[in-house]
Amino acid sequence: MKGLVLWLIGFLILHLMVVAIAETRELKTKTYPFGPFDSSYYDNFAVIKPATISNDALQITPDSVGNFSLNDRSGRILFNQTFKLWDGDSKKIAVRKVASFNTSFLINVFRVNNSVPGEGVTFLIASDTALPPGSSGQYLGLTNSSTDGLSSNKLVAIELDTFKQDFDPDDNHIGLNINSVRSKKTVSLSDFGIQIAPNGTKFYVVWIDYDGQNKWIQVFLEEQDEVSSPTPSKPAKPVLSSDLDLSSIVKQDAYFGFSGSTGSHVQLNCVLRWNLTVQILPGANKGSKLFKIGLAVGVPVVVLSLLAIGLTYYWYRKWKARSDPNILGALKSLPGTPREFKFRDLKKATNNFDEKHKLGQGGFGVVYKGLLPKENLEIAVKKFSGDIKGKDDFLAELTIINRLRHKHLVPLLGWCHKNAMLLLVYDYMPNGSLDAHIFCGSEKTTLNWNLRYKVVSGVASALHYLHNEYDQKVVHRDLKASNIMLDSNFNARLGDFGLARAIENEKTSYAELEGVPGTMGYIAPECFHTAKATRESDVYGFGAVLLEVVCGQRPWTKIGEFLLLVDWVWCLHREGRILEAVDERLGSDYVVEEAERLLLLGLACSHPIASERPKTQAILQILSGSMAVPHVPPFKPAFVWTSMPGPDSFSITSSFNNTADLTPASSGWSPHYFSRDVQGEFSDGSALM
Ligand SMILES: *[C@@H]1O[C@H](CO)[C@@H](O)[C@H](O)[C@H]1NC(C)=O
Ligand SMILES: *[C@@H]1O[C@H](CO)[C@@H](O)[C@H](O)[C@H]1NC(C)=O
Ligand SMILES: *[C@@H]1O[C@H](CO)[C@@H](O)[C@H](O)[C@H]1NC(C)=O
Ligand SMILES: *[C@@H]1O[C@H](CO)[C@@H](O)[C@H](O)[C@H]1NC(C)=O
Ligand SMILES: *[C@@H]1O[C@H](CO)[C@@H](O)[C@H](O)[C@H]1NC(C)=O
Ligand SMILES: *[C@@H]1O[C@H](CO)[C@@H](O)[C@H](O)[C@H]1NC(C)=O
Ligand SMILES: *[C@@H]1O[C@H](CO)[C@@H](O)[C@H](O)[C@H]1NC(C)=O
Repeated sequence: MKGLVLWLIGFLILHLMVVAIAETRELKTKTYPFGPFDSSYYDNFAVIKPATISNDALQITPDSVGNFSLNDRSGRILFNQTFKLWDGDSKKIAVRKVASFNTSFLINVFRVNNSVPGEGVTFLIASDTALPPGSSGQYLGLTNSSTDGLSSNKLVAIELDTFKQDFDPDDNHIGLNINSVRSKKTVSLSDFGIQIAPNGTKFYVVWIDYDGQNKWIQVFLEEQDEVSSPTPSKPAKPVLSSDLDLSSIVKQDAYFGFSGSTGSHVQLNCVLRWNLTVQILPGANKGSKLFKIGLAVGVPVVVLSLLAIGLTYYWYRKWKARSDPNILGALKSLPGTPREFKFRDLKKATNNFDEKHKLGQGGFGVVYKGLLPKENLEIAVKKFSGDIKGKDDFLAELTIINRLRHKHLVPLLGWCHKNAMLLLVYDYMPNGSLDAHIFCGSEKTTLNWNLRYKVVSGVASALHYLHNEYDQKVVHRDLKASNIMLDSNFNARLGDFGLARAIENEKTSYAELEGVPGTMGYIAPECFHTAKATRESDVYGFGAVLLEVVCGQRPWTKIGEFLLLVDWVWCLHREGRILEAVDERLGSDYVVEEAERLLLLGLACSHPIASERPKTQAILQILSGSMAVPHVPPFKPAFVWTSMPGPDSFSITSSFNNTADLTPASSGWSPHYFSRDVQGEFSDGSALM
């Protein structure tokens, strides 16, 4: 929260800085490429007579066309549009912002009949378009004898002067004129090998760059061969440069253009091309000022609003999570390694949940194999079927699953919840599930004895961890061969904690909403009555796994008159030939003592009375050989339901007919669940973690 506020303040400061910088630094410009000049330019140009636009040129003073007298003429042609050249307090120079501009034009100053030329032509920045009367001769169309030098002229010009007045250095110079034809600064162009108006025709490009920030003007000149020739590149060195503060001379809104004059000597002053680029001063018009204000105010307002919406949503989620401790929020706030995956990534990893990637299918959904390309990690993605009943409870259980870490548990990598769809991501187990190896293999491919023993030992240690070592005491609830995965080293990894649940948490579990978990043969008889999984019922399931691992038969395999594997083994035990139960495919490649131990332990775990079954601690010791196998009675004891006497109870009176008693009489057992589970999880023998 604190971070958010800091972030917000930081953002606002940054925003204001950016706006401020944009205010001062912004160089938004507008460029006008003018020419060749035809009569259409009369529309946008102020052409003050006797100036004309003719012969594809601006004729600043009269052209030879027509029968005007060429002598003692002055004229102006200006782009009839003002530009805001400076902004700010007119009295305080320091705070004024001055627009920069760049311009270049192609000019031909032509002397008629090789006669001496006169007087000159200028590039003009003027506060109005009006041509002062009497501005011919030496006044260049800028001023007249009574106004020259007055600051009220409010004009700046770059003159190309071809006639020497007494105040001029020569008859071929350039000058910076401020309100006067007496130049502030002059530079003779002869030094640069330039003659403005030679005999014959010469074209020159004039560049005038004005830097409003540094208040500096530079003028460059270069000859161009023909009108149609490419514009030469601007010379590195200016012919004239000077400081110039436009803001103290011209009006805020001023015109750009040309002026010129002739006197007793004449010349033609032709501008053939003209490019003008002017900086648009920030706030140069009301619209952009409003836009700026909008930007300065609107952006934070929008950001704040978005933030407010975001926070409201965040708090709503938090509130909702608090009001319902089981919801996703709890899962999201979990510490530890499991992470939330992006649905997009999982979709990509499984090639959009391609059938080809399917590893298995069960009651809760489908498991797909996937590859996370970035990590180059193979994963198994369990995608729960869309509408999960008791989802919140399930998610609450996930919070426990999340924290379970044991070398014989399939590691949960993370989860993903999107559009009411839940996905769990596990490590991919390259060797699949135990059942595939036990029930489907031939003599050659079936698991050898050592691996079988290693597998059941691993399962026992995982179960012990769940039952005792993990502080919240978890029961697995769904122990069966298809839930035991094998990693690359054939280590058992207990999978599918979808049904795991904390014993201490008495809340109804997800699984119970669906019915008793597990599958026939793995389910302890008392579960049909209590519909509650316990540590003892887990041990019962483990017993079933033990028997199937040793016998290579499924728990519900019908052998002779026996409908369940456990009954057949018990019978063999009674008859003293229990080793006959060992998987035929092993031949004699097994350790007799170990086989006997596992079979007897399997029977002990299958004791119909829950309290008689060994605890995981004892199971571990028996498996390691440090404890003797418990005594197994020759007849399978009867199951007596003691805690719920009455018509609901049933008992197993003998081991020979007890299988019939597994038919649900009046329990929470759901036949629907049963059939689905059998078809879904076992018909294809595939694994579901
Ligand atoms: C300049 O343009 C304005 C309107 O855009 C027009 O009224 C005015 O006459 C023009 N000035 C000249 C000298 O053409
Ligand atoms: C040329 O000058 C004569 C006399 O000076 C005048 O009558 C005539 O109108 C002028 N022609 C043009 C096109 O201005
Ligand atoms: C004028 O030209 C100079 C140099 O090419 C450039 O740095 C500057 O931004 C230009 N100014 C404008 C207003 O275009
Ligand atoms: C005017 O600008 C155009 C486009 O950038 C360029 O091709 C042309 O040479 C320029 N003309 C002058 C006289 O600078
Ligand atoms: C240029 O000379 C020709 C003949 O030599 C003459 O007719 C013409 O009027 C002269 N032009 C000017 C502007 O003096
Ligand atoms: C221009 O030509 C005239 C006559 O042909 C000559 O007198 C004059 O010196 C020439 N001027 C230049 C600058 O070449
Ligand atoms: C000079 O121009 C001003 C207007 O700009 C005008 O009022 C004044 O009469 C002119 N003076 C001369 C001598 O033509």
